Order: sequence, then C-alpha cells, then structure tokens
Amino acid sequence: MTGQSGGRLAGKVAIVTGAGRGIGRADALALAAEGARVIVNDRGGATEGGGSDPAVAEAVAAEIRLAGGEAVASADDVSDFTAAGRIVQAAIDAYGRLDILVNNAGIIRPRMIWEMSESDWDDLIAVHLKGHFAMVRHAATHFRAQCSGVIINTSSNSGLGHYGMSNYAAAKEGIIGFTRSIARDLGPYNVRCNAIRPAAGTRMVLPEVVETIRRSQEDHGFPGIGHDWIVPRETAASVDNVAAVAVWLCTDAASRLNGRTLYIYGEELGLFSEPRLERAAYAPGGWTSAALDDEGAMAFLLGDLENLFKPKTTGSSE
Ligand SMILES: NC(=O)c1ccc[n+]([C@@H]2O[C@H](COP(=O)([O-])OP(=O)(O)OC[C@H]3O[C@@H](n4cnc5c(N)ncnc54)[C@H](O)[C@@H]3O)[C@@H](O)[C@H]2O)c1
Repeated sequence: MTGQSGGRLAGKVAIVTGAGRGIGRADALALAAEGARVIVNDRGGATEGGGSDPAVAEAVAAEIRLAGGEAVASADDVSDFTAAGRIVQAAIDAYGRLDILVNNAGIIRPRMIWEMSESDWDDLIAVHLKGHFAMVRHAATHFRAQCSGVIINTSSNSGLGHYGMSNYAAAKEGIIGFTRSIARDLGPYNVRCNAIRPAAGTRMVLPEVVETIRRSQEDHGFPGIGHDWIVPRETAASVDNVAAVAVWLCTDAASRLNGRTLYIYGEELGLFSEPRLERAAYAPGGWTSAALDDEGAMAFLLGDLENLFKPKTTGSSE
C-alpha cells in the first residue's frame, strides 16, 4: 500500500467504522491508497461485542500515515448517537469536509432463538442497525448541505436466513431497507447509498457461524444466492476483494448505483434483485376464511410451495 498509489479518491475524506480489523481495515487502507484522507474508527472490542481498545484504530491510522497517507484514529462507539456525532465531527475538524461514509462496524452473537437473551438482541441491533442510523444521521447534515456524498452500508448474506442468526439477520435486513430509504431521502442531494453483503475470512467467521451456515445450506439450500456458497471457501476469500468493491462504489464509475445491494465473496461479485410481489390473488368484496379456502385462488398463489423447514416429530425443552 502506498498513500497515493491510485489517486482515484484524491481530495476526498472518508470515515470507515470498524476499520481496525478485518474488512474495515482493508477498506481504510484501500481508500487511503486511492488518496482519500481517512477517519479510522474502531472501538477495539471483542467479536461478540464488549470491551474496547483505542490501540486497534490507532494502529491502522499509523499504518496509513507510514505509507504516506493521511489518517486520524477514532475509538468511539457507533451505537452511541452522541459518539457517532463525534466520529463525523472528527472528519470536519481534521480535514474540513466529509465525502464518504463506510458503515462497517459489527459484532456477531449466533444463538438459536430459544437461547437468545434480551441483551444478545439489543446489543447486536444497537451496533449494526442503530450504528448505521447514527452515523448516517450525522453525516447526512453535511452531505445534504454540500450536495454530494457516498454511503456504503454493510449487510450480510446471513440476513437471508440462517439457523441461529435471528438477531443478526434482523439487523442486516433492516440495513437493506434503511439503505433503500436513505437512497430516496438523499438521492436528490447527489448522495448515493448502497449496501454490500460481503463475505471474507475474518475473525467474525467463528466456527459456530460456519456451522450454522453449513447446516442452513445443507438443509434447504441457500436462500437468495441460488448456488453453493461459503463453506468450502470461508477462509480463502480475501478482504481485499471487498475493499476493491468499496473503493469502486465511492467513485463516479458507480454513479448508476443507488439504493442497491451488491454481494461480494472472493472472486464473485453479484447484484441482488429487489423484492417484488411474486403473485397475487384477489377476493372480490374482501378476504374471508371461506374465500381463503378457494382452491383455485390458493392453487395459483401457493400451489407449488413446500415447507422447507420440516417439523420434528417431537418437541424439545433443551
Ligand atoms: N466476514 C464476513 O464474512 C462477513 C460476512 C457478512 C457481513 N460481514 C460484516 O462485515 C463487517 C465487518 O466484519 P469483519 O468480518 O471485518 O469483522 P471484524 O470483527 O474483523 O471487524 C469488525 C470491527 O468492528 C469493530 N466494532 C464493533 N463494534 C463497534 C462499535 N460499536 N463501534 C465501533 N467499532 C466497532 C470491532 O472492534 C472490529 O474491529 C461487519 O458489519 C460484519 O457484520 C462480514
């Protein structure tokens, strides 16, 4: 990495949250290599959340500076609305502007729903979903006033539905809806907001995460992807592939993309479809339970559907 190797983002100022490790670190280094000045934000906590260490963000900021780039470290917590404001203000204080926001910070707590505590839910939603809102809310003031800006939000293929990921899936699909809506709110102000569903070999790919994905795929295929995915390759996929896409999304080359979702895993880059009504049936006068029993309407609506999640023969209290 050199501070100015590419120059595609020369003069731009970027914030990357969760930039001390994994994908965020790769994003920060790649943005800096293209000439962006970077606020390297990372709380420096554990994979499941909790804890903090300012040295984590500082190490990446120092790495960028050593390579000839410009960077400032921030150890603020994105899930704290006031602290998120400080991250945005750090960009304004250090460089006088903000052009790019990469919302990447995240934690993971895989639990089957009957084992999930209230804090497993609240903490995860706070970092991912509220963290995205808090960062975008503060950045939006600047982006709207200057009539420019790029936002990259981070979702996950796990949002499409895995065993034991209900907190994570809820947050990650929430981020997709949030992204579409932000694209509308800020699009008229020349701000683009897209989401990525990345996959890469980082510390977040815990053994239990690999296992839950493997089980999900074996049992009913991977929803939304349509072909075999992650298991054989989970440690092979480099974070640099994700960073390359993130950089590209920040350039004018991506100006046609707004409110969309890209999937990036190793050498594969995909564009997700947007949900739409698959079929509809109509009940003149409104639906009643008798109308719902109508075989013709239901054959059209549900006829070829199967329950992919077959009931077990006995329940379990474990
Ligand atoms: N690795 C994958 O395969 C994968 C797949 C899908 C989605 N993602 C998403 O990509 C993003 C990056 O994940 P990663 O795999 O690089 O994980 P990682 O654990 O290596 O990095 C995440 C970083 O976010 C930081 N962080 C956590 N909570 C924070 C907070 N409240 N404020 C500031 N920083 C915080 C952590 O300290 C950590 O350094 C996450 O949003 C994750 O959900 C990753």
